[in-house]
Amino acid sequence: MKTVFKGGVTAVALFAAYAVQADQEANLVINEDIEITVRADAPEHLENLSTIYSGWVFRSSETQALQMDDFENPGMIFVDDAIEAWNTVEGSEGESCASCHGAPEELAGVRAVYPKWNDEAEEVRTIAMQVNDCRTSQMGAEEWKYDGGDMINMEALIASVSRGMTVNVATDGPAQSMWEKGRDIYYTRFGQLDLSCANCHEDNYDNNIRADHLSQGQINGFPTYRLKNAKLNGVHSRFRGCIRDTRAETYGVGTEEFIALELYVASRGNGLSVEGPSVRN
Ligand code: HEC
Ligand code: HEC
Repeated sequence: MKTVFKGGVTAVALFAAYAVQADQEANLVINEDIEITVRADAPEHLENLSTIYSGWVFRSSETQALQMDDFENPGMIFVDDAIEAWNTVEGSEGESCASCHGAPEELAGVRAVYPKWNDEAEEVRTIAMQVNDCRTSQMGAEEWKYDGGDMINMEALIASVSRGMTVNVATDGPAQSMWEKGRDIYYTRFGQLDLSCANCHEDNYDNNIRADHLSQGQINGFPTYRLKNAKLNGVHSRFRGCIRDTRAETYGVGTEEFIALELYVASRGNGLSVEGPSVRN
């Protein structure tokens, strides 16, 4: 399956060995309480990696520290906003998330297994799709914009109550064809730079690209608070940014292609912990 990386002129100029600055041996414990698995044996389906790492491992010690305490983690402010939304009645049915689901902690474990096949709808659903389905068919409320602020905040709340739980996304059964579609996209080369996700995140993780220390591009930490744009970022927006960096046209957020890619990339992190909202560059 692997596209062998032929280091052409562009590639040689693009990737450079990383000069160690971060504490790559560090362990992540949040609030001196929640233990996060940041390195694990790669899941069986990954042919080219033996160990998987959370993106946290590749960040500077200063950035790493921001995620070790909820009072330092700027992403947690958005979780507070989502708790308010959780308790707010909206739509024609007079319901809030809380009126059916109780406390947000009742959704512990959900983040770890999504995207997931939904039998009734006969589709693979991301958390955003499920939340919008609850909003429209359960609450009689408007959909939230995919990867918009309200949705990302809610995703951060839903992730936060699963922190420390092991990512375990199903790749087989009825989800398998979407998973295969996602894998195909992962190994497709894009843009003028002619690079696939794998060329950067599988063949060159731990190297530098421009000024950036490349991770394996895992999504166990999403949504991520990025210091670069000072807000929470969704998975599909991140995919868009990465593909755009290869100077290619890209898929839109919420498209079937990105849902498939999310399912596949999530499964590459099976064995790591749910970590969102995380802090990244
Ligand atoms: C009227 C009741 C109701 C309301 C209100 C409601 N939901 Fe749901 N929700 C459900 C039901 C029922 C399911 C299970 C649906 C299924 O399995 O297909 C569900 C499933 C979910 C799931 C997936 C759980 C899992 O184990 O896979 C999430 C996440 C979720 N809801 C979030 C929300 C959020 C966020 C809100 C508020 C914006 C909300 N829901 C409002 C009834 C509701
Ligand atoms: C040209 C190289 C390059 C390509 C190609 C690329 N990325 Fe990235 N990606 C980066 C860089 C640089 C970063 C920021 C540093 C890091 O976290 O690795 C990044 C970050 C990410 C992150 C955030 C990781 C975290 O811990 O927050 C994800 C997820 C990701 N990429 C997924 C993808 C996917 C999926 C593809 C293919 C559609 C892709 N990338 C293609 C360079 C690339």
